Amino acid sequence: MSVIERLSGMEILDSRGRPTVKARCELASGVVAEASVPSGASTGRAEARELRDGDQKRYAGLGCRKAAANIGGEIAANLRGREIESQRELDQLMVLVDATDDKRRLGANAILAVSIAFARAVARERDVPLYLHFSDILSKEGVSHPDPTLPRLTINLFSGGKHAGGQVPIQDVLLVPASARTIDDGLAMVVAVYQAAARIALSKYGMRALTADEGGLAPDFPNAEAMLEDAVAAIEAAGLRPGADVALAVDVASSQFATGADGAAWKYQLGNRLLDSSAMIDVVAGWVERFPIVSVEDALAEEDWAHWPALRQKISARAIVLGDDLLCTNVLRIAKAVELNAANALLLKVNQIGTLTEAAAAYRAARAAGWRVTISARSGETEDDWLADLAVGWGGDQIKVGSVTHSERLAKYNRLLEIERETSWPVVKWPA
Ligand code: PGA
Ligand code: ZN
Repeated sequence: MSVIERLSGMEILDSRGRPTVKARCELASGVVAEASVPSGASTGRAEARELRDGDQKRYAGLGCRKAAANIGGEIAANLRGREIESQRELDQLMVLVDATDDKRRLGANAILAVSIAFARAVARERDVPLYLHFSDILSKEGVSHPDPTLPRLTINLFSGGKHAGGQVPIQDVLLVPASARTIDDGLAMVVAVYQAAARIALSKYGMRALTADEGGLAPDFPNAEAMLEDAVAAIEAAGLRPGADVALAVDVASSQFATGADGAAWKYQLGNRLLDSSAMIDVVAGWVERFPIVSVEDALAEEDWAHWPALRQKISARAIVLGDDLLCTNVLRIAKAVELNAANALLLKVNQIGTLTEAAAAYRAARAAGWRVTISARSGETEDDWLADLAVGWGGDQIKVGSVTHSERLAKYNRLLEIERETSWPVVKWPA
């Protein structure tokens, strides 16, 4: 049982220089903790709603002063002095006070910042590392991990789409250090490939190592296939074996270049090719056939439910079929995907749903279906590192944080290194 003595919020800036929210939570025991929340750019339509000020004269309407004020105002007024038994109780109280279906009134950004700051404060009060406290929160929601592991790294090498000015439609090509047995080895392998890729970007495209929103390289690829070819070339140039040492993952983020409506025909503008859903599946299946790809995220649009089952059927022998915008860390959407056999892996982003407890329910639903789970950051991040603790504590199979540049990304990798040093837990075996 913990009692909140004081809560406050402030507007800070994320890695894109856009406002986001930081919460500070002081418990009656005197323990203080803070937490900052991230923000996406290629957001799913079913995500919980951040509260933005809308004042066009300030940060083009993206200010978070109202969200921050809600933390010290209405949220604090409802939580202060109460005996709070559990994370679930705290999160449910905030959901009740907000009283909308998508947290738009108080703001999912405000609510999540409090949810995490409270968890961190309670972990300190209990004097346990945050990853263990996260693990306890999850086991109270009915999921336990008797054999703890560290997540397999999936690290952004090349960026396109909304994170890189759209020079190529697909959003990320990621490296999966498959043969690495530790986080430490995995990072060293990925940095070697990244540097080889930077040399390729310079010699082939004349582009210095300038980076996109998540720190990936973003040369002017003629098409998605070139992005994948260059990734394989970079792995080889680093003296590693494509597939065996370093495999690839792709976030197609296709909702960003698709048009259509639920139940209607969808069209995909993949560069100069305009494809229907079946042709899009064939293109992605071709990539999975030709390149050592072990994970494909959002190959179809978020409401193209009719075609996801065929996608899954076609590629799941080789790659996991990961839903991001499709699922939005939402139990109802996960249940629908399970029923339709539309995917077999969840990309979990806590801010898509807005509280730890609801994200834990999404995690539980995915696990109950036998799915894999990738715990993910957002393209707009902060220097806060709680995501690393979450990925470990919840036993995520993979972690997706962005590239090996930019300190908001490195904060999470460096925290994973610390946790690895502290625990010596093994990294999840995957895909080998
Ligand atoms: P976002 O992108 O954070 O900009 O939504 C990340 C992703 O699509 O995985
Ligand atoms: Zn995505």
